[in-house]
Amino acid sequence: PTSAGTLVRSGLRLPAPFQVPLSIPRVLEPVVRDADADRYEITARQAEAEILPGVRTPIWGYEGTFPGPTIESRRRRTTVVRHRNDLPVPTVVHLHGGRTPPESDGYPTDLVLPARGWRAGHHGMHDPDAVITQGSRDYTFPLEQRAALLWYHDHRMDFTGPAVYRGLAGLHIVRDDEEDALPLPRGDRELPLVITDRSFAADGTFSYPSLDRSLTRVPGVTEAYAAGVLGDVVLVNGAPWPVHEVSATRHRLRVLNASNARRYELALDPPPPAGAAFVQIGSDGGLLVAPREHRTITLAPAERYDVVVDFGAYPVGTEVTVVNLLGAGSTRDVMRFRVARAERDDTAIPPRLSEVEQLARGQAVVTRDFAFTSGRIGNRHGWLIGGRAFEIGHAAARPRLGDVEIWRFVTDLHHPVHLHLVNFQVLSRGGRPPGPLDGGLKDTVDLGPGEAVEVITRFDGYRGRYVFHCHNAEHEDMGMMATFETV
Ligand code: C2O
Ligand code: CU
Repeated sequence: PTSAGTLVRSGLRLPAPFQVPLSIPRVLEPVVRDADADRYEITARQAEAEILPGVRTPIWGYEGTFPGPTIESRRRRTTVVRHRNDLPVPTVVHLHGGRTPPESDGYPTDLVLPARGWRAGHHGMHDPDAVITQGSRDYTFPLEQRAALLWYHDHRMDFTGPAVYRGLAGLHIVRDDEEDALPLPRGDRELPLVITDRSFAADGTFSYPSLDRSLTRVPGVTEAYAAGVLGDVVLVNGAPWPVHEVSATRHRLRVLNASNARRYELALDPPPPAGAAFVQIGSDGGLLVAPREHRTITLAPAERYDVVVDFGAYPVGTEVTVVNLLGAGSTRDVMRFRVARAERDDTAIPPRLSEVEQLARGQAVVTRDFAFTSGRIGNRHGWLIGGRAFEIGHAAARPRLGDVEIWRFVTDLHHPVHLHLVNFQVLSRGGRPPGPLDGGLKDTVDLGPGEAVEVITRFDGYRGRYVFHCHNAEHEDMGMMATFETV
């Protein structure tokens, strides 16, 4: 199996691929730009979207759109986002990849209740650790971090899967001077691509198993839900198998896998007549030290790749399809580029992209082991870290602020492991050196079945409580999350 999960088939006829134009999520304007911060307001609300042509789909969207609007910030310029909740359920918003103070990290119990019409009593307000705000909450991001592609999404943990599936995800791009100084493609040659999979019921609604039963805080879900939910429609920026015209020049693709459970291995069909398909310039945590060439790129849920594709390698008129080598049938196609016209290319990929401190094994003060396995929670199937399901009060690790640690993950099945607060470097994979796609600073690392992966990181930034978890959203909802506390 190439993706952990159960395929949900759509109950309507799927449209032909490569008909719908690619759209780029709109960049949100701050409501206030003052001396010390940019202030934004985002309302999560129910809306309808025409995702499949002629079909109306109810969504939950930040600002009523799927994906939500993009926030663009500068490094070290504080961004404050006021998230208002107009949905019928409590929410929490997490900035994935953000180096964030704990009170703004979107901890699973920092619930924001619906602004109106919420009847207390059936969602976990009995949790003694729950921090409840009514209607809206300000999240403050100092953004003391390098330029990178981050994303924000719902993070309730008992309901993340269904909430994100309904649309609660958006991009947050951080920029800095170091990156600006490089002659990389920008403007309309820089394309954010948010890849997700969904299934649609006959009436146009998203098909998601066991939605009502999963509304309880105790994981009470069927096996189909438990494995992870796979859709049969591939969406890029919310459009099914879109098509996009490009000039025959280099383009920078900033790819996020925002799917709940699906992994993708992306390739170009046809491959370029000369040169590599993808020149990787960045990973989850920003620019690599030096570019790396790949024939394909594999993305587990929540991973990002920053790659340059040179469409100048193709004759004008070529149709270049992005295919998913891990997919079959409708999930094999992702999107298509049409090389429409020649254009002068004044971009280049410098041999040196950034300086990143390389952490070495000898710097680590401790190695910790975490097993990601399936197991039982009471009499139900669940997903566990170190033999236990998520417990808010139990810290699985207490790293000292500033310390370098090695964390070793072992697993039974596929699990994309994500750490809040920090970026890490992959030290080893399956007892061997890291793979070609493991380079740079990461916040999410994919574990293959039976694989052990070591990562090294410095626990810098803030003291407080954070989480790490599997980013298969259904696994996460079913317990595969743990707490660490920087002290
Ligand atoms: Cu993308 Cu803890 O999340
Ligand atoms: Cu998992």
